[in-house]
Amino acid sequence: MRLANKLAIVTAAASGMGLAGVELFLREGAKVAAIDINEEALAALKGVARARGHDLVTIQADLSQPDQMRSSINEAAAALGGLDILWAHAGIPGPGGIENLDLAAYDRAIALNVTSAALAAGEAIKHMRKRGSGSIVFTASISGLVGSMFSPIYSAAKFAVVGLTKSLAQTFAPDNVRVNVVCPGLADTPMKIGFTGRSGDPTEAEANQARLLASVPMGRLCKAEEAAHAVLWLASDDASFVTGVALPVDGGFTAR
Ligand SMILES: NC(=O)c1ccc[n+]([C@@H]2O[C@H](COP(=O)([O-])OP(=O)(O)OC[C@H]3O[C@@H](n4cnc5c(N)ncnc54)[C@H](O)[C@@H]3O)[C@@H](O)[C@H]2O)c1
Repeated sequence: MRLANKLAIVTAAASGMGLAGVELFLREGAKVAAIDINEEALAALKGVARARGHDLVTIQADLSQPDQMRSSINEAAAALGGLDILWAHAGIPGPGGIENLDLAAYDRAIALNVTSAALAAGEAIKHMRKRGSGSIVFTASISGLVGSMFSPIYSAAKFAVVGLTKSLAQTFAPDNVRVNVVCPGLADTPMKIGFTGRSGDPTEAEANQARLLASVPMGRLCKAEEAAHAVLWLASDDASFVTGVALPVDGGFTAR
């Protein structure tokens, strides 16, 4: 097992790629804490884990709130008995346009995509130093590597997460803590519609998805498990000399 005896936190863990990550980390031998705003979904996830013989720690928190972001990491590390791995996965699509910008929506997007990642890492490093090593993985997007046709603020935020990754990789290297970021393409999760279907018109959502997929050499969406497997590799000792990397999981989208 690739994460045997590792202590891991996953944020935004109750759906989509985060949920796939929790299940994969558990299968690979980690002790896992799942943090999410959705208490009901966390309870369901805990039940599924228990049925498979795993004791999953679950913590409900609104990660757009700095106090809750910080305290949930510390609560999770205390429940786990330390911390080796953080997958800081929280994020939202944010506003679609830039004209008459909705500043409240803008602030929410920055809070969850960028501020939460910085705060999570800032708490996690304290626990990882005590263990003598660690691995932090953020979630950006293809929109953190190239501009987005649907989501300019999201793209700006995810570029910031890539910058945070490359900076913290250097800052934390002397602590033996690696920092990387996974950059999925449009993924087959509930969030997908937040990018392609902002108008609420399903026909437009389908057309937007088709437009985007036309630029994906492999011609399909990213599966949640594919992103989770990339994170597993970055988080595990298999990637022991890999830090500061923004890894696309995008079927070749950014290779063009
Ligand atoms: N779905 C995509 O197409 C796609 C592509 C690239 C990157 N991403 C990134 O992946 C991450 C999540 O995507 P997903 O597809 O797994 O999403 P998802 O919609 O399947 O799950 C998102 C999870 O985040 C939780 N959440 C929402 N707001 C929260 C808050 N304020 N505090 C705590 N938890 C909160 C939700 O309850 C949910 O469990 C985000 O960082 C997103 O930017 C998504």
